[in-house]
Amino acid sequence: MQDRSTDVEYPPSEDTFFVANSIEYESGDCALDVGSGSGYLTKLLTENFRYVVGTDINFGALKNQTYKTSNLVCCSSSDALNIQFDLVVCNLPYLATEAISDVATDGGAEGFEIPKQILDSVVPRIKDHGKFIFVTSSLSNYEKLINYAQKLGLKVKILARKKLFFEELILVEAVK
Ligand SMILES: C[S@@+](CC[C@H](N)C(=O)[O-])C[C@H]1O[C@@H](n2cnc3c(N)ncnc32)[C@H](O)[C@@H]1O
Repeated sequence: MQDRSTDVEYPPSEDTFFVANSIEYESGDCALDVGSGSGYLTKLLTENFRYVVGTDINFGALKNQTYKTSNLVCCSSSDALNIQFDLVVCNLPYLATEAISDVATDGGAEGFEIPKQILDSVVPRIKDHGKFIFVTSSLSNYEKLINYAQKLGLKVKILARKKLFFEELILVEAVK
């Protein structure tokens, strides 16, 4: 695999807090944070879940995490994991870009390419009736992602929208 990592983590931002607001009252046995970054969301999940795993493709970010947690795996999405989770969360890299030059933000073509890879990997890791909560944006073709999640058999709804200066954040819940 090409090493695209840097030691710089994505700092908690508007989109991070947008996901955080919706997951702070979620609880259960096992939870997964895909694209853990600073660990802000992973750490939050440890308050209400017995077992929490964070993954990130950027080893440098995991190594230097600000909000430290115990179970971190450097891999793409959930590709190296074999257990199932009640809840999976992801603050997706959703920007529509021609190439992936910053893994923290770049989603590839239509902002769909990387989110699709993440979704494909995550779906088998969600327990029956478990859910995947992710944030995407008007800067990507988010309708295509929602349609794709429905094609994979998930029941999808938009939980919330938040207008920022230059984009609208969209929080999506997909139930298996
Ligand atoms: C927008 S940042 C979110 C970071 C953190 N979860 C937050 O909410 O502040 C996206 C994160 O996903 C990671 N990432 C990008 N592509 C990934 C992939 N295919 N698998 C796992 N992590 C990925 C990036 O390295 C980055 O840390």
